[in-house]
Amino acid sequence: MLNQQSRPLYEHLRKHTDEQTVRYHIPGHAGGAMYELASWQEIAKWDVTEIYGMDDLHSPNSVIKEAQQLAAKAYDAGKSYFLVNGTSSGLLASIHGLFRRGDTVLVQRNAHKSIYNALMLLGLEPQYLMPEPIEPETIASVVTPSILKTALDRYPEAKGVIITSPTFYGHAAEVASLSKLCHECNKLLIVDEAHGAHYNFHPQLKPYSALRSGADIVVQSFHKTLPALTMGSILHVNTRALGKIDMERLDYYISVFQTTSPSYVVMASLDFARHWGVHAGEAAIDKAITRKQQLCKQLQQIGIVPWDSHWEQSGLAIDPLKLTIPTNNINGKMLEQILASEQIYIELVSADHILLLLGLGMEQAADERLLNALIKLIDSSRADNPKLNNPKANNSKICTTDYPQLPQQSPIVAVPFSRISQEIYQESTHRVLLEQCIGNVIAEFVIPYPPGIPLLCPGEQITKEHIDYIYKAKKADIHFQGVTDTTLNSLKCYLKELL
Ligand SMILES: Cc1ncc(COP(=O)(O)O)c(C=O)c1O
Repeated sequence: MLNQQSRPLYEHLRKHTDEQTVRYHIPGHAGGAMYELASWQEIAKWDVTEIYGMDDLHSPNSVIKEAQQLAAKAYDAGKSYFLVNGTSSGLLASIHGLFRRGDTVLVQRNAHKSIYNALMLLGLEPQYLMPEPIEPETIASVVTPSILKTALDRYPEAKGVIITSPTFYGHAAEVASLSKLCHECNKLLIVDEAHGAHYNFHPQLKPYSALRSGADIVVQSFHKTLPALTMGSILHVNTRALGKIDMERLDYYISVFQTTSPSYVVMASLDFARHWGVHAGEAAIDKAITRKQQLCKQLQQIGIVPWDSHWEQSGLAIDPLKLTIPTNNINGKMLEQILASEQIYIELVSADHILLLLGLGMEQAADERLLNALIKLIDSSRADNPKLNNPKANNSKICTTDYPQLPQQSPIVAVPFSRISQEIYQESTHRVLLEQCIGNVIAEFVIPYPPGIPLLCPGEQITKEHIDYIYKAKKADIHFQGVTDTTLNSLKCYLKELL
């Protein structure tokens, strides 16, 4: 009988580490005796493989199966799968599991790289859902029901919808309305809930929990917000979706995109985190809500108004574990460096803001260190740079540095993903100097970060607006992902004769 008090995989492994075992099996560290650090030796004891009694992730029938069933029960899912290659592997698997080459899918444009990888590998035809602009427009937010409705009406041939909620910045979409719209016209909904595994465990967040809101497949990075180890994620299938999805095909792709040597330490941490979420999650999130309110107040007292306050005022539901702080005209990278010199490390940095994860495992006392570091910085710099304690920070509008806006035009797809996935396209590229790029077809992703929305995806035509944006972005020191020439003096394009 499944019981949320139990941690079948975690306890089984724990018992095993207490035994005097003889290890005639991989991994090669054989229990870690050669590690000089006692902490490493302790971890190595937990690091086993599919030996007798340890079950098999790729064909589970005992402790892993039970741990997965308990996760499904905790989330009210029809079936849950442990993932040891992160949410990236779950998104690759679910997109391959649900769709077929050439299918049209509606995809939030500011999707994670793994979603784009899946679209390209499988050769899907994405139509993009452009998230509603919010202030500042350099931050990408969520897909609203009206954006989805328009797209569903326009592309009735679409087989499914792929969205992200909450976003990296903690913006949650109205997934219940989105999934209702999808199901009214028989479309499957995949939600990338990489940043929202904890939403299930608190009444204030539950209404935004994707699975409870009716999404068909939800993939969560347990390791991002719950006490699971890095790479530990879970893919859930909604009970109501079990009859609609080819589960054999999904099983197959989950196996394809995962290692055959899954980490037992990671899997046990998933079992631990599910149990922790069920029993301690609500109280911990309560504490996090209070902590964030207090930190916001303290920041405002020193002249820093977190962007979260603006976003909440505009009606967005923001994750209590995320906090975005403007750097008030100090370059964010410089601030990151100053904080690191005080052993304070942050989640994300941009030219004009930083993003903090207010982790559930953190003590509120940590915030004192952050505040003290910021106060010290403001005091020491005020004389040199009066802008630091920016009076504009108290305005109702968000102040940003001179960031270029992404071109509003829809992408011009010259070569669809279904053709790009053919080998000939991977082999037929050349470098084109930036000033000569207009009219060429790009062969790589160009993703300014933030906002993390691709400026260009492979197969799209480069326009003057794109090049103007890149010049401005270079000037604003915006970081780009996806490009092979990180100086952005050239872009990888397809040979013209191929088009
Ligand atoms: C929105 C989003 N989706 C998916 C992923 C991939 O998650 P994982 O690191 O667990 O593979 C990330 C990682 O940062 C992400 O931010």
